[in-house]
Amino acid sequence: MNLTELAEFYTTDKGDSPGVFGHSHGYTHIYETFFSPQKEMPVNLLEIGVWTGASLRMWEKYFPNAKIVGVDINPECKIHATHRCIVEIGDATDKHFLQSVIDKYFPEGIDIIIDDGSHLCSHQIKSFFILFPFLRENGLYFVEDLSVSQLSPSSTDTQFTDFLDFANYLSEQLIYFKNVSDIYSTITDVRQFYQHNMKVPQLSYFNKHLHSVQMFHNLCLLVKKKRNLNYATFTDDRMLEIDEIWKEAKGKQFMINEQRTEIELHKNELAKMRNTLCYKIKTLLQQR
Ligand SMILES: C[S@@+](CC[C@H](N)C(=O)[O-])C[C@H]1O[C@@H](n2cnc3c(N)ncnc32)[C@H](O)[C@@H]1O
Repeated sequence: MNLTELAEFYTTDKGDSPGVFGHSHGYTHIYETFFSPQKEMPVNLLEIGVWTGASLRMWEKYFPNAKIVGVDINPECKIHATHRCIVEIGDATDKHFLQSVIDKYFPEGIDIIIDDGSHLCSHQIKSFFILFPFLRENGLYFVEDLSVSQLSPSSTDTQFTDFLDFANYLSEQLIYFKNVSDIYSTITDVRQFYQHNMKVPQLSYFNKHLHSVQMFHNLCLLVKKKRNLNYATFTDDRMLEIDEIWKEAKGKQFMINEQRTEIELHKNELAKMRNTLCYKIKTLLQQR
């Protein structure tokens, strides 16, 4: 059976047949193109979101030699563990929980990550920041149901409107390098700086490790592969990087908040000036 047939057999809506919610996402056609070369290999696969265990059943059948771990916040999902599939209960936005899962099952790294959890934008981003550094070289990180990320109420702890917006931010990092003064530089700029012995921008973690951002219907794929950018400076401490990345994304939010406060101050100033002007005009009219 191919992956789409397996999806139908195990009743997950990742294939062509509508699941409980009446949707058929058709992701399995895309997955098959990436997964079929690795089908018989001992891949390490982590899925966020177990629910009825349908997709775990599909993965264990499709990848006979894989190590498969599903994580879910709902303790009832534990019953979907089998001798082929581990289920760990915890929050996929909790760094310490995910770190313990990695230490326990994937100390050598992960090949495939699928985020089919809450679909909330801030959760998707947080899990991605935590897990992406633990992908192995050429590892694949899929985020499903992007349209739900757009519909969900925007969260206060991220400035991104939805995962598409975040994917755009990541795409920028494939092309631009951000230096200390917050100005984006292109790869050509960086080469020029290097050739002329000028200060070269510090690479962000994603400048260095993100190979591509690929969009499909309602699905995003982020591929990890080290880029050959040896002329730029870079530190490779993974845990430090996660904190730095998170701080950077949050920093953007602070900047936006600061700008909003400034706009509010200007508005108040304008209101005061208008009131003074109105008062002066009124006094002048009364004097006539
Ligand atoms: C769409 S279902 C998963 C479906 C499953 N992958 C399949 O295709 O059969 C989403 C699951 O994500 C879980 N979930 C929601 N928020 C989560 C979080 N913060 N951390 C971990 N799991 C979460 C829910 O409990 C639910 O079981």
